[in-house]
Amino acid sequence: MAIVLILGATSDIGAAIAKKFASQKFDVLLTARKPEQLKPLESDIRIRYGVEVHSLGFDALQYDIHASFFNSLPVKPDVSICVFGLLEDEEAAFDDWSLAEKMIQTNYTGAVSILNVIAKYYLLQKKGTIIGISSVAGDRGRASKLIYASAKAAFTTYLSGLRNKCFKDQVQVMTVQPGFVYTKMTENQALPKALTSTPAEVADIIYVAYKKKKNIIYVKWFWRYIMLIIKNIPEFQFKKMKL
Ligand SMILES: NC(=O)c1ccc[n+]([C@@H]2O[C@H](COP(=O)([O-])OP(=O)(O)OC[C@H]3O[C@@H](n4cnc5c(N)ncnc54)[C@H](OP(=O)(O)O)[C@@H]3O)[C@@H](O)[C@H]2O)c1
Repeated sequence: MAIVLILGATSDIGAAIAKKFASQKFDVLLTARKPEQLKPLESDIRIRYGVEVHSLGFDALQYDIHASFFNSLPVKPDVSICVFGLLEDEEAAFDDWSLAEKMIQTNYTGAVSILNVIAKYYLLQKKGTIIGISSVAGDRGRASKLIYASAKAAFTTYLSGLRNKCFKDQVQVMTVQPGFVYTKMTENQALPKALTSTPAEVADIIYVAYKKKKNIIYVKWFWRYIMLIIKNIPEFQFKKMKL
């Protein structure tokens, strides 16, 4: 039986991914800062899919215990999915360095810290899959997502480098670039229905892409072309736009 590790399983996308992999008979390791919050999801998955599920404590910002967290896992995962992320109010974060720093650390530093540990293990095993949930926001910096987008851009670049580092040792690294998704993170935003996915759709697309050993996926597919257009707007014009 294969095992999947979900880092950030209290997130709507993380919970949907956990269910999708469980439906394909993966045992599941769920993690969150407050693992007791995972108990309803844990029993739901166990009852619905009949697989083994564990809930564990994990904080992306506790870098110094990331190695001991991974070493002490009850079983080692075949697939590790980094879902956690943080989007604060950007204007507040522009004023308050502690908010900006937390966004950078959660979306980038924390992810790099734990994925380095996992990648080292997979490289020794010469197998394993790492999936990182980044964002289309990281494809081009803009005023309304100043800190979040730059941290996600750094994460996307890290995943690209990690894929390059791990390829020769049969370790798969997949970057997921979601556009808009209906979750707690976006509940206060008015999202355009035609461009927005549900967490279950994101999970289905990730699972199919994982099976096909894809490198980079956009969710949904048309975001690749939306971002291509946005990336190609000349800077002299882009800097005047309100985005
Ligand atoms: N929703 C969108 O439109 C969208 C678009 C593109 C990309 N994404 C990305 O998709 C991923 C999932 O987001 P979501 O929309 O499902 O948002 P969400 O429901 O707000 O989930 C955010 C998750 O991050 C976790 N988290 C925050 N700080 C953490 C820390 N220090 N240590 C461990 N976990 C921490 C939260 O855990 P707690 O329960 O402990 O707070 C929660 O599980 C994120 O990486 C996000 O950037 C989302």
